[in-house]
Amino acid sequence: MNQSTSEFMKQFMATHKNFRIVEVVSGFCESHGPYTNNRVVQRFEDGTEKELPLLGCPECRNEDSIREGVEMMKDSRVGLRIEEIGIPAKFASCTVNGFITTDSDRKSETMKQNVKNKVILFVNGEIQSLALIGKTGVGKTHLITAALKALAREGKSARYVNERQIYREIHESYLGKKDLPTESQIIDRYSNVDVLGIDEIGRSSWTEHESQTLYEIIDNRSMNGKKTIIAGNLTTEEFMGKYDDSFKRKLGAILCSCSWNTRNY
Ligand SMILES: Nc1ncnc2c1ncn2[C@@H]1O[C@H](COP(=O)(O)OP(=O)(O)OP(=O)(O)O)[C@@H](O)[C@H]1O
Ligand SMILES: [Mg+2]
Ligand SMILES: [Zn+2]
Repeated sequence: MNQSTSEFMKQFMATHKNFRIVEVVSGFCESHGPYTNNRVVQRFEDGTEKELPLLGCPECRNEDSIREGVEMMKDSRVGLRIEEIGIPAKFASCTVNGFITTDSDRKSETMKQNVKNKVILFVNGEIQSLALIGKTGVGKTHLITAALKALAREGKSARYVNERQIYREIHESYLGKKDLPTESQIIDRYSNVDVLGIDEIGRSSWTEHESQTLYEIIDNRSMNGKKTIIAGNLTTEEFMGKYDDSFKRKLGAILCSCSWNTRNY
């Protein structure tokens, strides 16, 4: 046991009279060698006693807490950027890990695990683009926002947007207001961000100009090797029918059908 841990233990025992060291045991860590641990017993008011779990290698514990600290620091940095990414408040705390796959229905569980794995590969850089297609409430927005946050945590620029919002911004740019971005600035912004999440795709029919805009953004992104994740409340057939082959090739997305049960987690 190192000095600070033993000091801490002494102070802890002095202020916590209902704890008692019953034995000092030796342990061996594969990474840090031999160490000692106190077996501590807690005594309750009714006279019963319970032994606390051993703390294990103190060096490993230090490393764990440093790692946790770094993750928390990265998270707080991302936390400050949630608005900048455009993530709605309701999804601000969504994480990929927090996407639950357990399900009383085995088929649903396997589907969720498969799609979650694809999202993990997307975050790790092994998949360039993903399309999450499926009915309402299955967690598509959860997964998009979680993936954007995870990549932002790694220092990537990220942007969450609804498809219609892109067109709305462009329509507004025609109003000629001084402080609004121009159409080409809007297209550049969505083309250049490292990771773009476009949600609610395919909700409505496009004007020719809108479909050209989306094509242009996806084309620019594909040429520059940028990552894109899209999601929409469509069936796979609707998705395949709505987007032409050229668009789908540019997008280069792995299609994930999200058709599991919604309330079994
Ligand atoms: N597997 C899951 N694990 C944890 N939370 C989930 C899961 N699935 C959905 N949720 C939660 O349920 C809520 C609804 O999910 P979400 O909005 O992501 O669904 P959606 O597929 O985007 O639906 P829509 O097509 O209506 O936009 C969210 O709060 C989300 O965090
Ligand atoms: Mg959604
Ligand atoms: Zn260790």
